[in-house]
Amino acid sequence: MHSLTKTEVAAAPEHRADIEKATLRRAESQPALQQHIDRLHRVGRRKLKARQHVNPLASSHQQPVQLVDGWYRKAFADTTKPLHLDIGCAYGRFCLDMATADPTRNYLGLDIRWPVVAVALCKATERTLDNCHFISCNANVNLERILGDVIAAGGVVERVSVQFPDPHFKTRNKKKRVLKPELVETIQQFLSPGGTLFMQGDIHEVQREMRLITRKVGTGLQDLEANVDSWLSHNPMGIPTERELAVQAKGGDVYRCMFKKR
Ligand SMILES: C[S@@+](CC[C@H](N)C(=O)[O-])C[C@H]1O[C@@H](n2cnc3c(N)ncnc32)[C@H](O)[C@@H]1O
Repeated sequence: MHSLTKTEVAAAPEHRADIEKATLRRAESQPALQQHIDRLHRVGRRKLKARQHVNPLASSHQQPVQLVDGWYRKAFADTTKPLHLDIGCAYGRFCLDMATADPTRNYLGLDIRWPVVAVALCKATERTLDNCHFISCNANVNLERILGDVIAAGGVVERVSVQFPDPHFKTRNKKKRVLKPELVETIQQFLSPGGTLFMQGDIHEVQREMRLITRKVGTGLQDLEANVDSWLSHNPMGIPTERELAVQAKGGDVYRCMFKKR
């Protein structure tokens, strides 16, 4: 199947059906996602409503993710390619563009919101990418299991990114933030030696705190800048996220830092 433009998809119902079937196949590793993909194809992408924020502490988001055995092998054509994991990927723009530009790596995006992951998977199907996959889950609850499965399937976790992760930037919502000490410990445990953790965001206080937590907990991770108030001037990944583009279009500042596993 060739990659279809939006116009082609709208114009050709038989292609829409092909894409729906292929996207459902992509979601086989996470059966609960299939109903959202089904809905996405019934109502159309524009009408699919995704709440802007969900509460990661709600009991519904504290359950372990249901993934079929061997999901990593089903999700990627070549599991020996090094993995880039993007935590809080939203509609997947970053993973999709990176996977297109860089076929030497696998790209896995995680997001807590089902509808955005359904859209991301659909886009991966349209682009016929076999090195890009998405899972809907709370990263704070499921990261250890997911990365454990990656390693068990012979994968190598080479890069992790956490980009503009926090809709919950107010101090009273601190408990809902993604980058917690336990998350850093898990990333540190599974990153391959020499592997990197890249973080960026537009709220200085949040980014500085993420950086301080990582420095404190991630004793096996080295901040590439000695000075905690020195930030990378550009995005070393070369491809911007959706939020990054929006912030930059408004002339906002972005705070970026990179850690390397010793
Ligand atoms: C502000 S958006 C940024 C999206 C994207 N990284 C970008 O830069 O354009 C933050 C995303 O993180 C997701 N998120 C928040 N908490 C999460 C969690 N605990 N686990 C997984 N995803 C989470 C949200 O659903 C949202 O899509």
